[in-house]
Amino acid sequence: MSEEDRIVSGQKQSDEVTNVDAALRPRALSDIYGQDGLVENLRILVEAAKSRDESLDHILFYGPPGLGKTSLSHVMANEMGVNIRITAGPVIERAGDLAAILTNMRKGDILFIDEVHRLGRAVEEVLYPAMEDFALDIVIGKGPSARNIRLKLPRFTIIGATTRLALMTAPLRARFGAVYRLDFYSEEAICYIIERAATMLQVPIEPDGTTEIARRARGTPRVALRLLRRVRDYAQVRATGVISSSVAQEALTLMAIDDLGLDDIDRRVLHSIIDKFSGGPVGLETIAAAINEEADTIMDVYEPYLLQLGFLERTPRGRVATKRAYEHLNYEDNRGDQPRLF
Ligand SMILES: Nc1ncnc2c1ncn2[C@@H]1O[C@H](COP(=O)(O)OP(=O)(O)O)[C@@H](O)[C@H]1O
Ligand SMILES: [Mg+2]
Repeated sequence: MSEEDRIVSGQKQSDEVTNVDAALRPRALSDIYGQDGLVENLRILVEAAKSRDESLDHILFYGPPGLGKTSLSHVMANEMGVNIRITAGPVIERAGDLAAILTNMRKGDILFIDEVHRLGRAVEEVLYPAMEDFALDIVIGKGPSARNIRLKLPRFTIIGATTRLALMTAPLRARFGAVYRLDFYSEEAICYIIERAATMLQVPIEPDGTTEIARRARGTPRVALRLLRRVRDYAQVRATGVISSSVAQEALTLMAIDDLGLDDIDRRVLHSIIDKFSGGPVGLETIAAAINEEADTIMDVYEPYLLQLGFLERTPRGRVATKRAYEHLNYEDNRGDQPRLF
C-alpha cells in the first residue's frame, strides 16, 4: 500500500465484512428508507447544486455509529456523479498529508473525512481556507527568504462524519454549510433494510423472522445486518436454513441478546450502576473502569441507545439508572433503601 493509499483508506476491515457491507450499501437516495426528513434535505441539496452546476456545499453528518453516515456520503457522490475519496481524522497526521490530498481533488469531487473530530490542530488550520476559499496557503523556503503562496484549489466538497459533535472545534463546525443529525431508525425502516439485505444475500426469511430481528436491532442498520448474518448462520447450521420467528428467537437468545436488543455489555453497564453505585449518579469513567471497557466505546456505542430507551439519564453529576432500567432487569422488588431519582 502506498503512503497515499494509507492516508486515504485508513484501516481495512476483514474481507468478509467489507465485501458484504459494500454489496449491501445503499447506492441512491431512493435506497434509503427511514430518515425521511434527512433524505428530503439531501435531495434538495443535490438538485440545487446540479441545477446551478456547482459542487455540493460541505456537509457534516453526526450521530451514533452504524446509522449510515459513511453510506450517505457514498450515496451523495453517486447522486452527484462525482468521485469520492475516503479518509479519517486520525489518519491524516500532518498538514502536508492533507495538502497532498487536496491538490489531487478535481472540481466537484468529494473528500469524506470520517471521525472528523479527531483531526489534528495543524491539519485543521489547512482545512479552514481550503473549505472557505478553496485555497491552500503554503510556505516556500526557510528563514528570511521564506514566503507565503496561496494555491487555488478546485471547488470540491468535504463531507465530514462524527459520532461526537461536541468534540469538534467551533471554527471547523462553522465551515460546514449543511449539518445533519442521524437518528435511530424506526422498527419499520429496519424491517425494510433487513428484507432488502436478505433478498440480496438470498437468505429465505419469514416476515415474523424479520420482525424478530428488527425488534432487537437497536434502530441501527449496522446492528440489523450483523444480526441477520448471525441468524442466517444459525438457521443454516441448526435449522432448515429458513429464518422463521422461532429460529430467529433461538439464535438471538444464544447470542445473549434480549428482547430489546440489549447485549451483555449493555446489561453490565446498567448492573454496575445499580449494584455498585446504588443507581448513580456515577461518572462514565468510573462505570468504564468497573466493567473493564473503554469509556469512549460506552459513550459512542452503548450509551446512545440506553438513553434512547430511557434506561439511563445524564445528569451534571453523572449517569443515573432510571426506573425503567430497574424494571427491565427485574429489580423492582429489590431497590434497597438508597435514595433514588424517581
Ligand atoms: N439507510 C440505510 N439503508 C440500508 N442500509 C444501511 C442504511 N444505513 C446504513 N446501512 C448499512 O449499515 C451499515 C453501517 O452503515 P454506515 O454508513 O457504515 O454507518 P456509520 O458510518 O454511520 O457508522 C452499512 O453496512 C450500511 O450498508
Ligand atoms: Mg462510518
